[in-house]
Amino acid sequence: MRARRFLPAGPLKGRIRVPGDKSISHRAIMLSALAVGESRITGLLEGEDVLATASAMRAMGATVERLGEGEWQVYGVGVGSLLQPQSPLDMGNSGTSTRLLMGLVASHPITAMFTGDASLSKRPMGRVIEPLSQMGAAFEASEGGRLPLTLRGASPAVPITYRLPVASAQVKSAVLLAGLNTPGITTVIEPVPTRDHSERMLAGFGAELSVDLDADGARVITIRGEAELKPQAIEVPGDPSSAAFFIVAALIVPGSELLIENVGLNPTRSGVIEVLRAMGGQIEELNLRLVGGEPVADLLVRHSALNGIEVDPALAPSMIDEFPALFVAAALAQGRTVTSGLDELRVKESDRLSVMAAALALAGARVEEREDGLVIQGTGGEPLSGTIESGGPVATHLDHRIAMSMAVAGLASRSGVEVDDTRPIATSFPTFEALLDGALA
Ligand code: S3P
Repeated sequence: MRARRFLPAGPLKGRIRVPGDKSISHRAIMLSALAVGESRITGLLEGEDVLATASAMRAMGATVERLGEGEWQVYGVGVGSLLQPQSPLDMGNSGTSTRLLMGLVASHPITAMFTGDASLSKRPMGRVIEPLSQMGAAFEASEGGRLPLTLRGASPAVPITYRLPVASAQVKSAVLLAGLNTPGITTVIEPVPTRDHSERMLAGFGAELSVDLDADGARVITIRGEAELKPQAIEVPGDPSSAAFFIVAALIVPGSELLIENVGLNPTRSGVIEVLRAMGGQIEELNLRLVGGEPVADLLVRHSALNGIEVDPALAPSMIDEFPALFVAAALAQGRTVTSGLDELRVKESDRLSVMAAALALAGARVEEREDGLVIQGTGGEPLSGTIESGGPVATHLDHRIAMSMAVAGLASRSGVEVDDTRPIATSFPTFEALLDGALA
């Protein structure tokens, strides 16, 4: 454990650049490892989660090498040619690595064991086991469909049409990636749209993929299997989920004016910006451009008086990882913020509803935990009391986003917020503390 007290500080000034997008980085490594020949990736996120994906692809035969900061070279093996890994694949804290790689292994004639840390070992894998079993893969999972689990891929796998029972880009991607090496057409029906990085990148690598809307407005995604992927040069845009911590910090700390460069603004990811603006947040988009086929801008964020809001649950999938940061903004806003429809937050790296409710309460916020959301009564801009009088550090439960959110809360507190363990931050945003200390200096 590495505890740290985040003291009241600010304003945040100057410019920072957030690291590469985690979702896109995972997919860039995986698809490069399946293309035949050399791909180059720039702006890759070098967080532990993505490094777990890189190690797994190496263990299955690809050559994955770091050339310089964020610059990687991958020699792929070709779809259908993944090799049998010689030891268990250690997924660390990463749900995305686990679920997407299960999809890849499911349609290759190999067997792999997946292991992970205490947080990942509590998370449900049944949601991918179910469709991948329909495709012919065999599983031996721990109780409740959890890690560690062993997966025996099917060869050939069976193409399916799968309607997503949960709004999950990870489940969608697992089935599409399994479809890559499955003869015929694999179809995923997505009633509620989720991040579409897999679709964009699969098409970019030359897979035959289509996206249509059915009569009910659901997205119908098809992929033709036994695909041949062509190597690519990929530039990974900055991660909006990482930017969110700095957006909220600049909004709640008086006097702040921060330029956050290179923020990905894919519409399936940018819900938090929409919500923070509706709360009164001043967030300006500068220098809008396309990076690697994704919209990107620099965001100029100024301290703002925020107002509580009722967050439309339909926006949840486009900001699913940003709720911990949003809860901190709500704790400093004027009036009441109500969130609902957030059952999925209970099965992330931690139960983010109960863990954030406890952490914010310890820091002096007024929070009510409901079954599917939090209700937060904000201070109207007054600093939170902090955790020093209330007895001790907030518990982060191996969850990077809890640690970063409560670090931000500490800036807008009287006595500071002590976080029990900052190490998990390295899973997604290894430069977070250095960037924060720099912006405050
Ligand atoms: C991700 C999808 C989301 C998100 C996760 C990354 C992805 O999970 O929470 O951090 O890269 O596909 P779900 O699709 O399970 O909601």
